[in-house]
Amino acid sequence: MSTPTVTDGPPLVELHGVTRHVQLPNGSTLEILRGIDLSVAPGEHVAVVGRSGTGKSTLLNILGLLDSPTHGDYLLEGTPIGRLGSRARARRRGDDFGFVFQQFNLLAGRTAVENVAAPLLYARGRKFWQRKRLATQMLERVGLGERLDTMPEKLSGGEQQRVAIARALVRGPRVILADEPTGALDVDTGRAVMDLLDTAAAETGAALVTITHDLAIAARADRQFRLADGVLVPIHLDAPGPVIEAAAAVGATVPAAPALGAGA
Ligand SMILES: Nc1ncnc2c1ncn2[C@@H]1O[C@H](COP(=O)(O)OP(=O)(O)O)[C@@H](O)[C@H]1O
Ligand SMILES: [Mg+2]
Repeated sequence: MSTPTVTDGPPLVELHGVTRHVQLPNGSTLEILRGIDLSVAPGEHVAVVGRSGTGKSTLLNILGLLDSPTHGDYLLEGTPIGRLGSRARARRRGDDFGFVFQQFNLLAGRTAVENVAAPLLYARGRKFWQRKRLATQMLERVGLGERLDTMPEKLSGGEQQRVAIARALVRGPRVILADEPTGALDVDTGRAVMDLLDTAAAETGAALVTITHDLAIAARADRQFRLADGVLVPIHLDAPGPVIEAAAAVGATVPAAPALGAGA
């Protein structure tokens, strides 16, 4: 488990009172997020758990500039970015954010290296001209140096997610956003995928925000939250186990538990 990086400056990511309301066709308002406050430091890993439909993906999409808050402020290293115009948002998204999704979302009919190089088509200078080399290096780092020219459909789920991680990291994002990254993988493969994400974040000082149903995955993060009724509630998952899982499943706030092996 990594320790949050101590910095003198503002947190990397800051949400203040962020809401997301949607007008429904019948005229009523759906309040998906009701007031989210969240700060994430460089190099810090934060996990968000919660039942299906509680707004986890909406929150991640706001963090990744794929969606905008209805109210509230979003600051990236102290700079407000919640209400940028569409061009500035797209640029910011590509420059500063890397995404990993449950279903990998790789381009079919493109090789692994083409998938990983794709975000670099929107970069400038060296990153654009050397995109194939950079993509190759990134695939080597995730252990897929032998599968550069393989199509995604010929890869296992775990390998596809490693390609997706290489794609998320290839532009050197400051924030990595993972929406149920292990949701389509078996336990061991999921653990290996999280090892990769944790290592990447620790090595580059990126902030990592993971959304997951899996409390063992969430327990790896530096801090954990449960999203319920549109707000984030801090929880503690030092010792994932049947009691905690049962408590979380019924929506209880899980009390602090001793770490495994702490001898308590
Ligand atoms: N644009 C939208 N219009 C209407 N309802 C939406 C929209 N986006 C999300 N929702 C609803 O908001 C709730 C939260 O969605 P989501 O963020 O995907 O939840 P989660 O990822 O926790 O499962 C769901 O009930 C979903 O149907
Ligand atoms: Mg979701």
